[in-house]
Amino acid sequence: MKALILVGGYGTRLRPLTLSRPKPLVEFANKPIVVHQLEALVAAGVTHVVLAVSYRAEQMEAELSLEAKKLGVTVSFSVEDEPLGTAGPLKLAEKVLDDGSGDPFFVLNSDVICDFPFKRMADYHAKHGKEGTIVVTCVEEPSKYGVVVYDENSGKIERFVEKPQEFVSNKINAGLYMFNPSVLKRIESRPTSIEKEVFPSMADEGQLYAQDLDGFWMDIGQPKDFLRGLCLYLSSCDESLLAKGPGIVGNVLMDPTAKIGTGCRIGPNVSIGPGVVIQDGVCIKRCTIMKDSTIRSHSWLENSIVGWRCDIGKWVRIENVSVLGEDVIVRDELYINEAIVLPHKVIAASVPEKEIIM
Ligand code: GDD
Ligand code: MG
Repeated sequence: MKALILVGGYGTRLRPLTLSRPKPLVEFANKPIVVHQLEALVAAGVTHVVLAVSYRAEQMEAELSLEAKKLGVTVSFSVEDEPLGTAGPLKLAEKVLDDGSGDPFFVLNSDVICDFPFKRMADYHAKHGKEGTIVVTCVEEPSKYGVVVYDENSGKIERFVEKPQEFVSNKINAGLYMFNPSVLKRIESRPTSIEKEVFPSMADEGQLYAQDLDGFWMDIGQPKDFLRGLCLYLSSCDESLLAKGPGIVGNVLMDPTAKIGTGCRIGPNVSIGPGVVIQDGVCIKRCTIMKDSTIRSHSWLENSIVGWRCDIGKWVRIENVSVLGEDVIVRDELYINEAIVLPHKVIAASVPEKEIIM
């Protein structure tokens, strides 16, 4: 089986992290987002994954070819000269996706995290026998997503509305699809949106079916949702993967190379990357601390993301969905509230209110 992952898009909503690494390579729960997806695809029997890339292809090729080798899967890159949207990339990869076998293939948005149901999708897709399957999930704010109206008994989709202005339903497109190769005939070779230009007509023709997702789901393409997704992911994580020991509270994921001082309180809902140093008396709740960062003694961090190689001083307080880019230095005793800090900055004064530090 084959799959295509839509890894284009500039990831602007996940800045400043995406200024250093393309969104699919940003580590979520200590693993690049796209690696979570590759692993699940391989487990479901996928042998060839096409990564549809519209920018920074070299960095992704360099890092992911290693991962592909480890997983024993062929990963090829389909590079766009101009961003082709969410449908155009399928047409560009037509020769790979439609290999003459008639086998269906998976398509994924690159920023969704869940218990990927690929095996169930393949079974359901074969069972209903139509052109496309969309996985749907229930959310509180459907206006941010593509809304799916379907018959709960048959699964047949009646209507697909991308980012509706008015309430239609709270069942939304989870960004996971399975298609027959015939779908490619519906797509033109130009920048085009699968949600706006392909799904509505497929639904009209009765060729699109919905499958309910079990368990958690989150589009982690913006900081607030990234942190919410981390909480959900950790609570569904295998217990054996979580950190244990003095000072660890609730669900915490910690790389074995990270060092924690004495008298700390870490958790709940924290991920700590490789090479991170946490000095004595630090308190961290609902945060991601990325590779090689240092948090100096008696600092207090909540609901925030600390990017790679940051240096957080002593007695610092960081909170309210603050996001520090790569290599940010925060001097001692400062208060950082709701701040977005671009890479390589030195913060020498408190940021008491929402601010972007450029
Ligand atoms: N290759 C390529 N080229 N990929 C692209 C391009 C492009 O030009 N533009 C966007 N993508 C990728 C993004 O990287 C992402 O993986 C996916 O397409 C969807 O784009 P987003 O920008 O994340 O869309 P969204 O989150 O607003 O909405 C989409 O996802 C929701 C679920 O999270 C839609 O599919 C909604 O219907 C859906 O509910
Ligand atoms: Mg998204």
